[in-house]
Amino acid sequence: MIQLNELPINKEYVKRKSTSFNFFHRRQQKVGPGALVGRYSLEDEIGRGGTGVVYRARDLRLERLVALKINYQEVGARSPGWGRLLREARLASALSHPSICTIYDVGEDGGLAYIAMEYIAGIRLSGLLVPAGLPNGLVNHFGRLISNAIAYAHEHGIIHGDIKPANAIATGSGQPKILDFGLAKHLSSIHADTAFSPSSSTDSGCAIGTFPYMAPEVLRGKRRGIWSDIWSLGVLLYELATGKLPFRGSTAFELATMIMISDPIPASREMPPVLREVICRCLRKEPHLRYHRAQEIAEELSRDSLPSLTACWREYTSSLGSC
Ligand SMILES: Nc1ncnc2c1ncn2[C@@H]1O[C@H](COP(=O)(O)OP(=O)(O)O)[C@@H](O)[C@H]1O
Ligand SMILES: [Mg+2]
Repeated sequence: MIQLNELPINKEYVKRKSTSFNFFHRRQQKVGPGALVGRYSLEDEIGRGGTGVVYRARDLRLERLVALKINYQEVGARSPGWGRLLREARLASALSHPSICTIYDVGEDGGLAYIAMEYIAGIRLSGLLVPAGLPNGLVNHFGRLISNAIAYAHEHGIIHGDIKPANAIATGSGQPKILDFGLAKHLSSIHADTAFSPSSSTDSGCAIGTFPYMAPEVLRGKRRGIWSDIWSLGVLLYELATGKLPFRGSTAFELATMIMISDPIPASREMPPVLREVICRCLRKEPHLRYHRAQEIAEELSRDSLPSLTACWREYTSSLGSC
């Protein structure tokens, strides 16, 4: 609900707040640049995903830029949409890591549910994919930093559940930041002795995630866990290195079949042996044969000695400039 008793910070805020109040009560779905949602003034749309639209916005109270993710669906305080967004915000806000987007706030205004978070200026890793693949050094750095961040999430009992290049942004200095904990879940219900066993089915028996990045056992409706995040990390690494997915199909059925029974399509380019081995092990069909901890991926990748991330990133971005 709009909190009319919120203390406005200036006259402009008061004016826009009351405009917003009328606006959302007249046409609740209409949001766009210039609209006010909670205490956030929307600027430009910066992204869209399966669940919401994301705006760069200004926090009028703290006077700083944020990214505001607004659920597509209008929500009531007790609706499933609100519950999902609240869960996403609670899980992600439990994490504080340089490679994970920081959550600031979650709220609801006139039927619109939103998450306010760190605004990350940069480019999605999916936007960096090229048919020839990224330079090996950059793949290695991204892989290491993302695996470290996922390991940190796992240590805090959270699995991401939707690791893919579209859910990570590289900042201007090349630092990757993971976003979108919309499909994350807490592992607290898993006992230590079953922590690496996906044998039980999900509550719904439904596969959850983004199809090309989903592990074979998840496609079969089994529980997600550390093992399924490790699989998705393998798909992400393969895609960064080759510009293509390791399993392909012209229909969803064909793709699912390839993921469940086929070996990854041999990479069309030379990869350093360490990277190749890491990808292979992440993409083992049997979950217990994959790495058991994301940290092991980072450790394996560190066996390749490389110039710094800054140097790799600078070289890569300047090569783009000279194309
Ligand atoms: N904090 C952020 N800073 C900058 N851009 C963001 C931020 N969060 C999301 N985006 C952009 O919005 C897109 C969709 O956000 P995401 O959280 O993945 O939504 P969904 O859950 O609907 O997939 C992202 O791929 C990214 O381009
Ligand atoms: Mg997303």
